[in-house]
Amino acid sequence: MLGLSRRELLLGSAGTATAFATGGLIGLEANAADMTLPITRFDHSIVSGEITKGIMGFGKDAPPPVLRMRQGQPFSVDVVNELNEASVVHWHGMRIPNQMDGVPYLTQTPIEPGESFRYSFTPPDAGTYWYHPHCNTLEQMARGLTGVMVVEDAEDPGFDQDLPLNIRDFRLGGDGQFIALFKPRSAARGGTLGTVSTINWNVAPVYDLPAGSLVRLRLAVTDLTRVGTYDLNGGEAEVIALDSNPLPLTAVNLKTPEGVILAPGQRADIALRVPDSEEQVVTLTRRTPKGPKVLASFHPVGASANRSLAELKPLALNPIPEADLANAEIVEFVFGWTPDGTTPEPSICGSLGYTFWSINRVAWEGDTPGPVDPLAVFKQGKSYILRLRNETQNAHPIHLHGLSFKLLRSNKRAIPPLITDTALLMKGETMEVALVADNPGNWAFHCHVIEHQKTGLTGYIRVD
Ligand code: C2O
Ligand code: CU
Ligand code: CU
Repeated sequence: MLGLSRRELLLGSAGTATAFATGGLIGLEANAADMTLPITRFDHSIVSGEITKGIMGFGKDAPPPVLRMRQGQPFSVDVVNELNEASVVHWHGMRIPNQMDGVPYLTQTPIEPGESFRYSFTPPDAGTYWYHPHCNTLEQMARGLTGVMVVEDAEDPGFDQDLPLNIRDFRLGGDGQFIALFKPRSAARGGTLGTVSTINWNVAPVYDLPAGSLVRLRLAVTDLTRVGTYDLNGGEAEVIALDSNPLPLTAVNLKTPEGVILAPGQRADIALRVPDSEEQVVTLTRRTPKGPKVLASFHPVGASANRSLAELKPLALNPIPEADLANAEIVEFVFGWTPDGTTPEPSICGSLGYTFWSINRVAWEGDTPGPVDPLAVFKQGKSYILRLRNETQNAHPIHLHGLSFKLLRSNKRAIPPLITDTALLMKGETMEVALVADNPGNWAFHCHVIEHQKTGLTGYIRVD
């Protein structure tokens, strides 16, 4: 069977394969993990009055928990697969060892039903991250498996409260049940949008916040498809980090009045100074052709704490190495259509049955390892400039596992020198980004519109 030989080939060729762990070791481990994370399936109400059947979550009948860990402190979690299909968990944005990255066949064998896998790593960077499966990804994420992860700063910046906001849609019909998770016609364009927008699995929730306090809102767009512009209205607020990294002082146009564009996979940390009076409601909205859509409201309660944004300590920069631009090698990646739009081979971790997209003219359908060859091989420790060319008519949030990169320039717009793991390429845009290839292994590299990923727009880069 071709799939198996590919798997063997790939695992055998990976420099990290020796560190491979198998599932089902929990009983043999001497030490308990910091936490257990079951992958589960249950019925749950998303829209009021209706119980949605076949939701998937990390736990019992509740939205995925916010996982909290501390920068530089070891963290371990036993993921227990209680589904009746294989899964794996990927920690999006984390620069951790390859064998903990959670990509089937590329970094580990999938966790089979009833089995478990211990992920353990030490987060090197602080910030807002998220976690999701990387096996049958479209269906598992669509049914609910997307959670927020917070790496606390080594030094506290001085917030009174921390509020992660898991922003995503569900594709439900009027009866509250899942409808077709994607449409091929849409997958070949911008992607299939959800029908019900939620924050932390609630439709337009209201949060009470202490009046006059400083709150860190952690926006994480864990949606499968939707690129949106978000505004925070009615409070004094400032964007302090994007995609886990503090904004450079030179960043422009990132104050909330201009809105924040977030694509699937991207995050924004916003410092909110809650208004003093209970009448001053703050709203989080997303722009739509029909006007702003309210996603969440924040109500000041109690006597004012009289805090001021100026009291916040600036976030420390994460220890991400600076690329040596003068000596960096330029490597091109072209995001385009598939050469022939053929039907892919059946896939072990879930195929949508179509390929529409490609990277460097090669289509890989996402969760399985074909083609075996990496898109590029980087030398450990060397600097690279990735020239990302989107020759299509659609936007693609391009995500690289295991390594963070810095935005250098675009042929379409002025971009700030942000450090990120997910860059949004608009139609026809070419962007150059730089990195130091300091983390060895096979790193998935794909569009985070999951239908695009699953219909060809993925591959991997090897660092060795
Ligand atoms: Cu957010 Cu390959 O992942
Ligand atoms: Cu990732
Ligand atoms: Cu895409």
